[in-house]
Amino acid sequence: MMTSLLNVRDLEVSYPGKGLRAEPFRALKGVSLDIRPGETVGLVGESGSGKTTLGRAVLGLAPVTGGSIEYGGRDISHLNRRQRRELSSEIQVVFQDPYSSLNPALTIEQILAEPLTARGVAAKEARGGVRDLLDRVGLPADAARRLPREFSGGQRQRVAIARALALDPKLIVCDEPVSALDLSTQARVLDLFIEIQERTGVAYLFISHDLAVVRHISHRVAVMYRGELVETGDGDQVTARPEHPYTQRLFLAAPVPDPDAQAERRHTRRELAAAQAASEGATA
Ligand SMILES: Nc1ncnc2c1ncn2[C@@H]1O[C@H](COP(=O)(O)OP(=O)(O)O)[C@@H](O)[C@H]1O
Ligand SMILES: [Mg+2]
Repeated sequence: MMTSLLNVRDLEVSYPGKGLRAEPFRALKGVSLDIRPGETVGLVGESGSGKTTLGRAVLGLAPVTGGSIEYGGRDISHLNRRQRRELSSEIQVVFQDPYSSLNPALTIEQILAEPLTARGVAAKEARGGVRDLLDRVGLPADAARRLPREFSGGQRQRVAIARALALDPKLIVCDEPVSALDLSTQARVLDLFIEIQERTGVAYLFISHDLAVVRHISHRVAVMYRGELVETGDGDQVTARPEHPYTQRLFLAAPVPDPDAQAERRHTRRELAAAQAASEGATA
């Protein structure tokens, strides 16, 4: 407990219902999760299960209606704007889409210097900081003068990672950060995440619908299903021997190259789905 960086307890997030009599929508129900310093916790689950909502709750961007989120022992689930801004040097974010997350009108230097100058770093020092950041994410120094549109998707994501690193955060929420990239670029950007962690000791809440990605990068894996965590454990254990029927199905849905193995998996998946439907029917 004492060694956790982030401590999520019985978290509930409800989005207001639309229309007059609409019920609020409970997107997260009793979610508990710890992240230790320097650790990568992979968060998997199908689309709509609540992964982004959990990431946004950690960032103070989702309506927390119950439970708590502690960072370094302090409840951060209901901070005001000023307190949030202060916390932005500790907790940062990398989103899926590097096209919309970078201001197209600013040069890379302006984008990367902004968090530094906002903290009172002098312009000249900030320029040095930008060079250092570019180096840390494997971009050439002359990238500073260019605009986001002059870069490929992978390079743009490197800029977004550099921006997240500018203030030396202890935790980065990564929401599908490689999902928009082609496979070989994914692999290189994932390696960059790992290398940065080895060098800086930053922790990641690493959200992805892609099991191969999560398996590659995570120390521990948490599986989300309809707003609840159904399984949390050691990465190898959860991916090799999933215990919850939903996790088993999720893993069986991941494509494998061999068509026979694929057919076998499809069969097993159907059986599991039927068994799960039967048990849910029994408890409903
Ligand atoms: N701002 C919102 N208002 C209402 N419902 C939302 C909002 N954001 C997400 N939801 C709903 O919450 C559920 C979880 O969404 P999300 O966290 O985006 O899932 P994931 O990232 O796993 O795909 C979905 O049913 C989604 O429609
Ligand atoms: Mg999402």
